[in-house]
Amino acid sequence: MTRTVKKAPKTREKSAASRKLLAWYDAHARVLPWRARKGERADPYRVWLSEIMLQQTTVATVGPYFTGFLQRWPTVEALAAAPQEEVMKAWAGLGYYARARNMHACARTISSEYGGKFPEETEGLERLPGIGPYTAAAIAAIAFGRRATVVDGNVERVVARLFDIETPLPKAKPEIRECADTLTPQKRAGDFAQAMMDLGATLCTPRAPACNRCPINDLCDARVRGTEGLRPGRAAKKPKPKRTGACFWLTRNGHVWLRRRPEKGLLGGMMEAPGTDWVPPLCHGTVTKLSQKDLAALYPWAPVAADWRLIPGFVTHSFTHFDLELVVLAAATRKKLVPGGDGRWVPLAELHAEALPTVMRKVAMHAMPETGALFAKR
Ligand code: ADE
Repeated sequence: MTRTVKKAPKTREKSAASRKLLAWYDAHARVLPWRARKGERADPYRVWLSEIMLQQTTVATVGPYFTGFLQRWPTVEALAAAPQEEVMKAWAGLGYYARARNMHACARTISSEYGGKFPEETEGLERLPGIGPYTAAAIAAIAFGRRATVVDGNVERVVARLFDIETPLPKAKPEIRECADTLTPQKRAGDFAQAMMDLGATLCTPRAPACNRCPINDLCDARVRGTEGLRPGRAAKKPKPKRTGACFWLTRNGHVWLRRRPEKGLLGGMMEAPGTDWVPPLCHGTVTKLSQKDLAALYPWAPVAADWRLIPGFVTHSFTHFDLELVVLAAATRKKLVPGGDGRWVPLAELHAEALPTVMRKVAMHAMPETGALFAKR
């Protein structure tokens, strides 16, 4: 099929984009808890904290966490002085827990080696724990007004459409960055970055973009060509491997037995119900019973010998590199001492105050649906 390709606006005309976007931002910026209001100076601590939290997590999820952290630790020095365990507990549910450990290490470095002040340039920022090129650019631009180009997923989409970039992601990343850089103004680079993010989040959305309300629709190559729905293209993702295992929900007198995971690796330093290594798939959707053979294979990992019963069904969770399916075995015990002892009895009523990652909250709710109310309260 042949398609008439209308002439796209020239790149040079894109110089109007930043002016138009900034005017749009002045009128339509989202009110977000970490943003300075008009005329206010941005607080580098707030900007840094929000950008760390927003890495791979949505604005809606981050909001209450950001407010909670700020109330509890209003300055970078206060955060630096907090025990790591408390920081991990406050972070629980945000995911990607290495971010929390790096964030805490960064606060400690800023406090002890930088007199509590963040570096103002991307190069200095990138030397700090947990701050990569994206976060450094965002902090330099938003907190310190430096001209830095900030490219997150929303910005990628806006730019891929504006320049009608055919190359699929992730291959298109360097080209998108280059195009984004041509748009970044000398002044108000921070507002410009946030205007691009807001445009991507509110109008230039992945599906059904609201082009008729877009302040730069007249400059958009994809709109002229009718390709906005195809941009950005994406290379087919490899399916994630599936891992399966079991974990043990052991209760005693209103408490549950939890242990801390090793500092390094997946969910490092977070709490968990003891589990097995990865085992061959046990769960098949409707599973309500395990064979004696399956059960016998799981018992070596059980924290105590007990009358373990399978909770029907299973828990699923998606990590970056694999999908997880867990069956949950539950038992009550009267024994106070658990051999090996690498855990502690946690009051069920205080589960929400533990550093429990989302997958373990799911396990808790699978074993005891009433714990859901606790997690909803935080
Ligand atoms: N995502 C990452 N940083 C952001 C910001 N400053 N505003 C809105 N969304 C964001």
